Parts: sequence; C-alpha cells; structure tokens
Amino acid sequence: MLSESLIEKLNQYGQNHLLKYYDELDERQKENYEKQLEELDFEYVEIFKNKNKIGKNAEDVYSPLEAMTIEDIEKKREVFEAAGIQALKECKVGAVLLAGGQGTRLGFDKPKGMFNIGVNKEVYIFERIITNILEVVNITGCYIPLFIMTSEINDKQTRAFFEEKNYFGYDRNYIFFFVQSMAPSMSFDGKFYMEAKDRLSLSPNGNGGWFSSIIKADLIHQMERMGIEWLNVFSVDNVLQRIADPVYVGATVLSGFPSSAKVVKKARPDERVGVMCRKNGRPSIVEYYELPDEMMQAKDSKGEPAYNYGVILNYMFRIKELLDINGNNLTTHIVKKKIPYLDEEGVLVAPEEPNGYKFETLILDMINMLDDCLVYEVDRKREFAPVKNKEGVDSIDTARELLQYNGIEI
Ligand code: UTP
Repeated sequence: MLSESLIEKLNQYGQNHLLKYYDELDERQKENYEKQLEELDFEYVEIFKNKNKIGKNAEDVYSPLEAMTIEDIEKKREVFEAAGIQALKECKVGAVLLAGGQGTRLGFDKPKGMFNIGVNKEVYIFERIITNILEVVNITGCYIPLFIMTSEINDKQTRAFFEEKNYFGYDRNYIFFFVQSMAPSMSFDGKFYMEAKDRLSLSPNGNGGWFSSIIKADLIHQMERMGIEWLNVFSVDNVLQRIADPVYVGATVLSGFPSSAKVVKKARPDERVGVMCRKNGRPSIVEYYELPDEMMQAKDSKGEPAYNYGVILNYMFRIKELLDINGNNLTTHIVKKKIPYLDEEGVLVAPEEPNGYKFETLILDMINMLDDCLVYEVDRKREFAPVKNKEGVDSIDTARELLQYNGIEI
C-alpha cells in the first residue's frame, strides 16, 4: 500500500501524475511500482529547478592548461615505455571499460560494444577493444585485469555476448563485470517520466558513477589483492582506443600526479568533446554542452585557440587518491535526450527529438577533485575514432575510415 509519506512527497514535489495508472495495476505490479517510488530520489526535482546554475559559479576563473605534447612525449618515449612496461608487469595497472551508456545517438538497440563495425567481416566494438589490450599483453607477457561497467539495462546481454565470443581470446579470469546505478528522467517541465504504467523511466546515471560502483561491487578489495594501484579508464565507443599503452602508463607514473588524461587537438571550436582547462588554478574539464562561447572562441597570444585540447575519455587515476576524495560528491549534470515516455493516453512514445532531461554524473569532474593531472596529447588520427552517431560527424563511417587509415582490416 502507498505510504502516507510517499503520497505527501509526490504532492510536495508536483509529481502526482506518477499515480495516474496505479489503480489499474494488479497487486504484484503495485508492489514493484511502490518500491520504485520509495527509492526515487526527489532531490532530482531540486537539481532540475537549479539547472541553469549547474557547473557555473560567477567567481570561477578559467585559464588554459598546457599539455605534454606529442613532440615532448617522443623525446622521452623510451624512458616512459620502460617505466610503463615495468608497472604493467608488476600488475600495478587495471583497466576499466565504461560500457553502461545507452548509446541513444547511435540508435542501436543492443549494448554499443556489440555493434559490428566491420565491412567485409565481423568486427565488433568489444572485439576491437580486446584486440587493442591484447597487444599490450603480448608485449608485457601479463594479462591486465579488465573491469567492465555495465548498466541494469545491458548487463545480461553484455555478459552473454562476451561468453558467446569466448572473451575474444582474453583470459576470463582477468575480466570482472560490475553494474552501475540508475537515475530517473524528466520532461522539460520537471515531471518524472514513466515508461510503463508500473514503471518509472530510469536510465544509467552517467559515467561518473564508475568508482562508487566499483566500491559497491566490492571490487576494490579484489584490486588490492592483485596489487593494482592505478586504473586506466576508457570509453566503449572509441574503436582506436589504446588501453594501458605502456608509454602513457609510464609518463603518468613518472609524473608524480594522481591522474592523467589523454587529449587531442580539437578539430573545431564546437567539437563535442570535454575541454581541458584550469578552474581556479586546478585542472578541470568543461563538458561540451556547458562550454561558454567566450571559451570556445578564445585565442592565445599566437592567435591559436586557447582551449584547444579535448579529452577522449581515456584517463588514469591512482586508486589511493580516488579513495581519499570518495567520488560521491560529483556534480549532477542535466542533459537533453530523447526519452521514450508514456503519453496522456498511456501509450509508449519514442520521440524523434530530445523531449526531456537525464541526470548524469561525469567522470571528467573527477579531474578537478584531484590535485593535479598530466595532460597527455595523442594523435587523433591514430587514437580517436568515436562511434557516437549513425551518420555524419563521429559516426560509423568516420570510424571505419579511421580504422582503414590505420591499416586495420574490417
Ligand atoms: P556518452 O557520453 O557517449 O553516452 O558515453 P552514451 O550513453 O554512451 O551515448 P548517448 O549520449 O546516449 O548517445 C561515453 C562513455 O561513457 C559510458 C558510455 O558507455 C561510453 O563508454 N557511459 C555513459 C556509462 O558507462 N554510463 C553512463 O551512464 C553513461
């Protein structure tokens, strides 16, 4: 039965519409739905109300942040590589694949990693990732523990796919799955969406939840047992992603900094990548949908774009400092998305255009919480082929071109 306090909360936050179909439900459905409502975090209504202030503080001062350039790296390549190989051989580095996203822009109805990017043969995105990580395993002779984050929506399919493909030749004993948490979604006028008469519309709560989800899954102890000190965290959708690349690992470990981020020179001022900068003197990243126009257009003294480095979602973090900051205090961002919802007649609608907000915490905010970050430039043609959209920019076609450019058979 609906509790008094829940009914009061729904009234207080203007969310009564969530009970519109309650009386039509059978007892079991009612029970499940009540549980979802009890677990619903009404704090999201406050976040919605303050959405124009997110990530902004009039007193914040932004300035450009220098990167270790490709030329700088080349000069020290051997030293970095040796240090990286040593750290990998000592099993000090684990890899974390963020595969909990819904990939709505791609519009593929399975986990993004199951997408076949091949032309003449099958080449799955997950397969590309495993092939790349195996290259490093072949150099060091040691498997790199791989932690894969899924969501409640895609967990079963992801695990079954890896199983079916025999983990693409990776040693199963070094693969660990964990599941991230969910968040509600909301219409533009602040009403939580439902996706069935007995179900709220929930979606994965952003890639910032990865570390707290690792803790929740009790994998931190597993990492300690294995002697892992560093995590290389990366996205599922970059089919040229280099994972635990020894030169990058070595440069990070030798930097003495608790974190590092791979960056590329931006292709255009409005490219949809997070932008590296300093905020109030600390390293920071501004997500593309929150980048102010002044920063997008700013020039340095040579007339070059002042904020010219974009992140490619490939970071390293030292676990010790991550535990110190405890990732729970991340900002919640609000992002416009296409959200399937129940209309006034109780019919499920799949919108063609964004129709509401999802709430996400972002991994890039962790950089600002740590004291320093090595900004590490890579060649975008060699390391950055994101599969975000069906067509156009950062699409299946552009990724295929880049794979071919790198001599990879597809
Ligand atoms: P994106 O920001 O591209 O989001 O994710 P997405 O959900 O995959 O795609 P769109 O925006 O709906 O089209 C960047 C990386 O973060 C992971 C994704 O799987 C991808 O590797 N991610 C994103 C998560 O693991 N969990 C999330 O909740 C969101």
